[in-house]
Amino acid sequence: MREEILKESTDVESAGCQRTLAVHERKQKVLARADCNNAGAGWGSARAGEEFGHRAVYLHFVLNRRRRLVISILGISAFYHDSAACLVVDGEIVAAAQEERFTRVKHDHNFPLNAARYCLSEAKLTVDDLDYVGFYDKPLLKFDRLLETYLDYAPAGFSSFLKALPLWMKEKLWMPDLIRTELAKAGGEGDERAAKKLGKKFQWKLLFGDHHESHAASAFYPSPFEEAAILTIDGVGEWATSSMGVGQGNELTLLKELRFPDSLGLLYSAFTYYTGFKVNSGEYKVMGLAPYGEPRYVPIIKDKLLEVRDDGSLKMNHKYFSYAHGLRMTNGAFDKLFGGAPRKPESSITQKEMDLARSIQVITEEVMLKMTKYAYKETGMKKLCLAGGVALNCVANGRILREVPFEQIWIQPAAGDAGGALGIALAIWHRYLAKPRLSPEAAGTWRSPRAENKGRNSNIESNGDYRAAKKGLSAYADGMKGSYLGPQYSEAEIERFLQSRQVPYEKYSRVELPAMVAELLAAGKIVGLHQGRMEFGPRALGGRSIIGDPRSPEMQSAMNLKIKYRESFRPFAPSVLREEVAEWFELDADSPYMLLVADVAKSQRRTITAAEEARWGIDKLNVKRSAIPAVTHVDYSARIQTVRRETNPLYWEIIEAFRKKTGCPVVINTSFNVRGEPIVCTPEDSYRCFMRTEMDFLVLETCLLDKKAQPEFREEKNWRSEFKLD
Ligand SMILES: [Fe+2]
Repeated sequence: MREEILKESTDVESAGCQRTLAVHERKQKVLARADCNNAGAGWGSARAGEEFGHRAVYLHFVLNRRRRLVISILGISAFYHDSAACLVVDGEIVAAAQEERFTRVKHDHNFPLNAARYCLSEAKLTVDDLDYVGFYDKPLLKFDRLLETYLDYAPAGFSSFLKALPLWMKEKLWMPDLIRTELAKAGGEGDERAAKKLGKKFQWKLLFGDHHESHAASAFYPSPFEEAAILTIDGVGEWATSSMGVGQGNELTLLKELRFPDSLGLLYSAFTYYTGFKVNSGEYKVMGLAPYGEPRYVPIIKDKLLEVRDDGSLKMNHKYFSYAHGLRMTNGAFDKLFGGAPRKPESSITQKEMDLARSIQVITEEVMLKMTKYAYKETGMKKLCLAGGVALNCVANGRILREVPFEQIWIQPAAGDAGGALGIALAIWHRYLAKPRLSPEAAGTWRSPRAENKGRNSNIESNGDYRAAKKGLSAYADGMKGSYLGPQYSEAEIERFLQSRQVPYEKYSRVELPAMVAELLAAGKIVGLHQGRMEFGPRALGGRSIIGDPRSPEMQSAMNLKIKYRESFRPFAPSVLREEVAEWFELDADSPYMLLVADVAKSQRRTITAAEEARWGIDKLNVKRSAIPAVTHVDYSARIQTVRRETNPLYWEIIEAFRKKTGCPVVINTSFNVRGEPIVCTPEDSYRCFMRTEMDFLVLETCLLDKKAQPEFREEKNWRSEFKLD
C-alpha cells in the first residue's frame, strides 16, 4: 500500500504534479512516467513509470466537497496542433469544438478560448460552475523529452532547441497559471492582470492526463463497446508514439507503448514533408495520392529506414531523419537515398511522389495490420477502438476491418489531438471519479454488424426507421451523437441574419425541403448544406457540407475548380444511406465518421477500355469507373460515410429523396470551405463561402438561397490571400 504518498488534489497543479494522471481511485495505481526513453526496444510496458518511484505521484480526491448535483468537466487540448475544448456533464458529452472554427485560422494551436466559451454556453454554465478542468497532456514530460533528446543529439539540434525554448520558458512550463488565466478570459475578463487574479480564485480542480491515455479514453469511452482492445497511434505525445491497452466497463488500462523517436506517425509525416505537403495536415493527401503510384520504394524503406517487427513495433534508422533535433523532418542522407531534395510545395507532382506515397502507404498498412493483430492476440478482445492522428488513415482502417479477426472496430472521429480534449474529460469522469459507464452494447441499443448479418430477422427496430427495420438493421449508438457536438443556429436566428443583410431566400417546411434539395442535386446543382450542429473532428458529415450528384462524371472536377479552387487528384467522399451501403460498396457496416475505405461494389462498376486504362496521372481520375464516378478513386476505393436517420434526420431525408428521384442512395459530401479555410461554423461563414464560390444553392436550415437571386457580394480585400494553402 502506498497511502503515505497520496496527495490531495490541491497539489495537482504544482509543476511536479503535472506528471500525475487522474487514476481510478479504487486502484490508486501509478500510470504516469517521467523518463522512459528506451527507444528501439519495441513495445515497452506502459507501467514502466512504476520503476521510477521518486517521480511517481499518486492522487486522491475528496469527493462531494461541495455537494454539487451535477459534475461538469471541461477538457482542453492546446498549444500543439488543432486546439479544442469539450464539455462533459455527468458523463455526457454536451459539446466539443475546435478553436479553428471560431478564429478562422486552420489548425489553430492557441488556447481554445472561443471553443471553451462555446462549450460552456451550450450548457448555460459559467467558468466558475465547473468542477474539473482537464488538460490532455503533460507539458513537463514533453519538456523532459525535449531536453533529453537535445542532450542525446548535442551539439546537433542546438538551433531548434533555442527556437523552442522561449515559448517553453514563457508559457508552457507555467501551464496551470496559463490555463486559469485563459479561462478567466473565456469567462469574459478582458484585462490580463485581472484575469490572472481571477484565475487563481477558481474553485475547480485542474488535472493533467497523459497524451496517449487521453487518446485512449477518447477511443474507448464513447465507443459502442462494453469491452475492447485499444490502440493509439500518432506522431508523439510526451514520450509515447503508440500505445496498446484494454477498456472494460469504466476501466481503461494501457499495457504497452512504443516510444519516441520511433514513430509511425512521424515516419508518415517525414514522407508528407518530402513529397512537398504540409506536415500535420497534408498526410491525407499522401494517402489520396498513393493509388496512382507503384510501391517501388518499399524495399529501400525496409532496407535503410526501418525495421518492422512482427508485433508492429518499429526501429527507425535516425541517420535519415531530423525531426528529433532539427527543424526539418528529413535530412541530406534521406535526399540522397531518394534521389534529390524534397518536392517544393505547389510544384507539379511527378511519378516519384506518387510512388513514394504508395510505398509509405504500403508500409503504414503493414505496420497497422501487425499492430492490430498483435493487440488481438495480446488482449484477447473481440473489438478494437482506435485513436491518434494515424487512425485517420482510413485506407488502413478498412484493411484492419477486413483482415484482422476483430469483430468490429470503432474509430474516434476526432482521432487527432483535438480529440484529446474529449478524452481527458471522459477520463476524469470514468477513471478519476470512478463513475460507471453504460455502453450502448451493454444497454442493448447496439449489436455488432457481423451479428446483424447473421440474424437479419432482428426485431430490434432502428428507432422507428421503417427502411432500416425492413433491411433488418439494428440501431446503432455510440457516445458521440454523430460527432454533431458544435454550435447550432435556430431557424429564427438564421432568418434574422438573412433579413438583416437583406438576403433573398425561400422558406420551406422540414417536410418539403428534402425533395426540393434532391431535385436540385439531380439537376446537377452544387448545394451548400448548413444544418444542425457543427461536426467535431476533421470531417464534414452533413452538418457543414457541400453536396452534389455523384453520378455525374464532370462533378468531381467541377466541384474542385468552381468551389474548392484546387485541381485535385483525390475524388470526393460519398455519403450513403446506411440501409443501402452493402449494395453500393463492399462494406456492410456502419462508417458514420467517414473513417473506413472500401471498394465500390462490383455490380456498380463499369468496364473500362484499354485507352482509358492507359491514362496517366490526374487524368486517370476522369475515367468513368462506376455508376458513381465522382466518388470512385482510380483503384475503385471510396471513403465512405454511412448515414442513419436517427443520427442526422434531415441529411438522411435529403439522400432518401435523392434515391427516390434517381435510384441512387449516394451523394457527394465534401467539407464546406475553400482550400486552406477551416470548415464553416456560423450562418455568416456559410453565406460568405457560398458567395465567394460558384456554389449554386445554399441551405441554411430550412431557408434556401439561390445564387442567381443574390445581390452582388463585395469584399474590401481579396479573400484568396486570407487563407494559407494547406
Ligand atoms: Fe496525439
